[in-house]
Amino acid sequence: MDDLDEQARAILKGNDRGGYTVPTGGLYPYQWNWDSVFAAAGFAEHDLSRAWEEIETLFSGQWSTGMVPHIIFHKVDPSYFPGPDIWGGVGPLPSSGISQPPIAATFIRALHALDPEGSKARVRALIPRLRDWHRWFFDWRGEGGAICVSHPWETGRDNCPDWDGPFANIQPEGVEQYYRRDTTHVKEDERPRSYDYDRYLYLVKLGHDCGWDEAHLKEVSPFRVADPTMTFTLLRANRDLLALSQAFGEPTDEIEGWIAAIEAGSEQLWNPEIGAYDCLDMRTGEHTGVISSASFLHWFAGVGEDRMLAHYDRITSDVRFSMPSTDPAHPQYEPRRYWRGPVWGMMNWLIATGLHEAGHEDRAEALRLNTAEVIRTGGFAEYFDPRDGSPAGGRNFTWTAATWLGWASPNTKGITCPVSS
Ligand code: GLC
Repeated sequence: MDDLDEQARAILKGNDRGGYTVPTGGLYPYQWNWDSVFAAAGFAEHDLSRAWEEIETLFSGQWSTGMVPHIIFHKVDPSYFPGPDIWGGVGPLPSSGISQPPIAATFIRALHALDPEGSKARVRALIPRLRDWHRWFFDWRGEGGAICVSHPWETGRDNCPDWDGPFANIQPEGVEQYYRRDTTHVKEDERPRSYDYDRYLYLVKLGHDCGWDEAHLKEVSPFRVADPTMTFTLLRANRDLLALSQAFGEPTDEIEGWIAAIEAGSEQLWNPEIGAYDCLDMRTGEHTGVISSASFLHWFAGVGEDRMLAHYDRITSDVRFSMPSTDPAHPQYEPRRYWRGPVWGMMNWLIATGLHEAGHEDRAEALRLNTAEVIRTGGFAEYFDPRDGSPAGGRNFTWTAATWLGWASPNTKGITCPVSS
């Protein structure tokens, strides 16, 4: 029995607010979309019923448009900004107005595989909800099959250098004086800069003032960027939704259409100048030129074959702990500042799943062992310094605990690789 297993379970328990889990108390006191899906995968290691509950609570916030919000504000908590009043989400529960990487279908399929009979009714109820959500992405975020975001927070990679170019074209006018709470919980140099925060809030205000009407927002927003996290996780999620739909005798034509369109559209994210997938700014037609941890999700999506392999080997041999969120060779690399350099364990889980499925078992296993080592070194932190594994950001973090239980722990009985397709 590994003491870290017990610690990880205790973290999930400590962050459990009854039916949903917060990423960590104080810094993130609400339910976040993809954090909750990882949480479910962590609970699945010891409490399958609680795992399903986490996902069901997430979908209880789904809007009538199909969108599943990135934050659901179940109980107001003043330790976080911007809260429900600033967002003004228009769903059934107080929420933000944007979504997050759609990894739910992938993990729902994996949870189902752990108990096919016992989970039938739950999966049957979730399939149409997943379909509505994926359709929302395709309708409102699809640009020729590449999937865009209307706000950096939607990608889950809040301040990565990909946004530097698009942000330079934004004048954050009309944003009222505000007071950040994040820097009261975490050191300033491990968080986004004020320059970025002004623009985050400007984009929130824009969406809020449009009443989150996507057609309107698409017309007026200066920010519309196609992103590898979104494109690759949605492509993968559609493959898993297709498999579930086939198993449950649900319609599949529409999903097959999405898969074909995103497979083709993902090619737009290929930047021949750097020989890598990156973001594409739809407002300027320019690639962002950043190799990020999200670039390596193409294996998870089942596209791109081995065209990123040389970059993968170069970066993983450059740092002690992988996968840094930004290529250390990039001039904007900052090893402790959030998405500009640190290692995020749950990204590694997704990347390794793709590597494994593409036949790179050695690299997948090496990444798993490296992730286990960074957690042993730095604890259950939000993210880690790639140079020495020292912890950064929030502590007692749900998705790091879940990544340990579901994948990185040597004792895992959890999900391991979400699904072998
Ligand atoms: C930050 C991360 C995002 C995550 C959220 C809660 O905003 O960038 O990916 O979902 O925190 O942990």
